[in-house]
Amino acid sequence: MRVLIAKDYNEMSVAAANYVAKKINDFKPTADRPFVLGCPTGSSPLGLYQHLIKLNKKGLISFQNVVTFNMDEYVGLPEEHPESYHSFMWTNFFNHIDIKKENVHILNGNASDLMAECEHYEELIAQAGGIELFMGGVGPDGHIAFNEPGSSLASRTRIKTLTTDTIQANCRFFDNDVTKVPKQALTVGVGTVMDAREVLILCNGPKKARALHHMIENGVNHMWTSSMLQMHQHGTVFCDEEATVELKMSTYEYFKDKQTIEKTLDRFTAYYDCN
Ligand code: GLP
Repeated sequence: MRVLIAKDYNEMSVAAANYVAKKINDFKPTADRPFVLGCPTGSSPLGLYQHLIKLNKKGLISFQNVVTFNMDEYVGLPEEHPESYHSFMWTNFFNHIDIKKENVHILNGNASDLMAECEHYEELIAQAGGIELFMGGVGPDGHIAFNEPGSSLASRTRIKTLTTDTIQANCRFFDNDVTKVPKQALTVGVGTVMDAREVLILCNGPKKARALHHMIENGVNHMWTSSMLQMHQHGTVFCDEEATVELKMSTYEYFKDKQTIEKTLDRFTAYYDCN
């Protein structure tokens, strides 16, 4: 696992966006061989999306041959609701880049048969050749997508009932009213994320400090589903200093040192300066 510690949220977002852009450009996607990107929602990826939009507008990256699969969607929330993940993705990302509408995939939380919708989603991912790079955030309890504590680490796309913690964390998007937060969601499984050829996790701010500690320092555990990243061959965490406060000093220093060496080796240079 690689852990990149940025000084703040902006630096983390720019570094992660540059990293993703370079991956896509190096892949040289075509219509017949598109780059398949897994996308998260939430406040964590907003800065990353903003920087990718800038790169796209400057012609430094194209999404013409990028196919996306989103992680999750609430059940029963109309797609046009401002807090649906459909709205989030189009408002904050897709409407501002040159992606083809038919290349965007987001789970339908209003499907008449939700289980069939989840199974079909897994089939679509397989038909697309699997996910090249799955980006994700984490909840304060370390969940990835909507794989709440106790989710099977081998889980696939399915319906999940949200925990009280997650409902409370997400009520800031619903007028701070827990009763307005949907109680269920469709979500890719931990296994679905881990099948991606590469996984990139964003973890920022003091509220994510415990999650970062469990994700990278403790053992793999279904109570902190993002800890499964430890089992992935190509897992990278982009975090900020604020998220590191629960790490052991030795862990922090180890990854800082490694990062400095890798920077020297030019692996994590900011390829596209867009400021
Ligand atoms: C929700 C989403 C997750 C996201 C998490 C954290 O639970 N399903 O995919 O990672 O929120 O969101 P934020 O980035 O706003 O802290």
